[in-house]
Amino acid sequence: MNERPAIAQLGHITLSTPNIEKSLWFFRDVLGMEEVARDGNKAYLRSYQEHEHHSLVLVDSNVAELEHVSLRTARPEDVELYARQLHNSGVKVVEIPKGTKKGQGDAIRFFMPHGGHPIELFYDIEKPKAPDAIQSKILSQSSTRRGLGVRRIDHVNLHTAMEEVGSAEGWLINNLGFKRREAMQIPDGPLVASWTSVTPQVHDIALVANPHNQVGAFHHVAFNLENFSDSLTAADILRDLDVQIDLGPGKHGIGAAMFLYVRDPGSGHRIELYSGGYLIFAPDHEPTVWNPENFAQGLTWYGEPTPMDPTALFSQTTQSTKKLV
Ligand SMILES: [Fe+2]
Repeated sequence: MNERPAIAQLGHITLSTPNIEKSLWFFRDVLGMEEVARDGNKAYLRSYQEHEHHSLVLVDSNVAELEHVSLRTARPEDVELYARQLHNSGVKVVEIPKGTKKGQGDAIRFFMPHGGHPIELFYDIEKPKAPDAIQSKILSQSSTRRGLGVRRIDHVNLHTAMEEVGSAEGWLINNLGFKRREAMQIPDGPLVASWTSVTPQVHDIALVANPHNQVGAFHHVAFNLENFSDSLTAADILRDLDVQIDLGPGKHGIGAAMFLYVRDPGSGHRIELYSGGYLIFAPDHEPTVWNPENFAQGLTWYGEPTPMDPTALFSQTTQSTKKLV
C-alpha cells in the first residue's frame, strides 16, 4: 500500500459572519446555493453540481473571519497519515471528531507554519439527496440550477506577508503535494504570488503578498460559473441589488479566466465569481512565471486594471481566526 498521503481537492470553506441571515440571502437566494442543513450557529450550503454535504459553511458570529480552508484527502487513511506527518514535523495538530461539522467525518486542523492560515483536512463527507422540489432531471446535478447559478467552489486566495509567500508555497508543495502553476516573481527578489493546485485547475490555492504585509489574511473564495456570459449577467443583477462590486467583470492573464469580485453583504468577505480559464493535464507542465514588466497584464488582461495600492477596496482583506476549535 502506498503510505504517502495525498490531497484530492479543495473541499469547502468555513466563514464566520456577523449577519448570517443577510449572508444566507446572498449565497442561497442570489447566488443560488442550496441550504443543505442548519445546525446550531452553522449553515451548510452547496452548489448545484456538488453532491457533497457542503462547500460553504457559514458560522453565526460577532466577527467576519476565515475559520478554515478544508482540503479533502485522496483516501480515508490519509487524514491520520497527515496527522502523524505534521506532528512529526513539529506542527501542532488538533483532532476534530466526526460530527463536529454536520455530515462530515473525522478531521484534523492546524495553522500553516508559513502563511499562518487555518487548514482542515478531512475525507468522509455525506452526499445527501436534495429535496424533491429542487431535484434536477440532469442526473449528474445534485439540484436544479437556480439564482446566478454558481456550480461549485473553485479556489481560495490567501494573503500573507511578502517574505512568507515563498516559504508558504514551498510548504504546500513539499508537505501537501501542490504544484506551482503560475507565479509572479521579482527577478533576484521575492516571490510576489503563486497559483498552486493538486487538480488540473491552474489554482486550488493562490498565495499572494499582502500590501499591508499581514500574515494569515483572507482575500477571497471563488465560486465557478459556467461561462463568461454568466459573469456579465451576475454583474448586471448584483448592481441592482446594491451588492458591492470591488473589481470586474474582466479577464485575468493569469489563469485566463473571467473575474468578478463582490462582497457578501452579511460579512464583507470577498467572493469571486469565476468563469472560463484553462486546465493542465501534462505531467511535465512548466509553470508560467510573470515579472514586473508584465505583472499588470497578468492581473488584468482586459477590463479595469487591478489596483495594487494598499488603500484600494481590492486590497482589503478579512482575517483568519486565531483558534482552531
Ligand atoms: Fe481568484
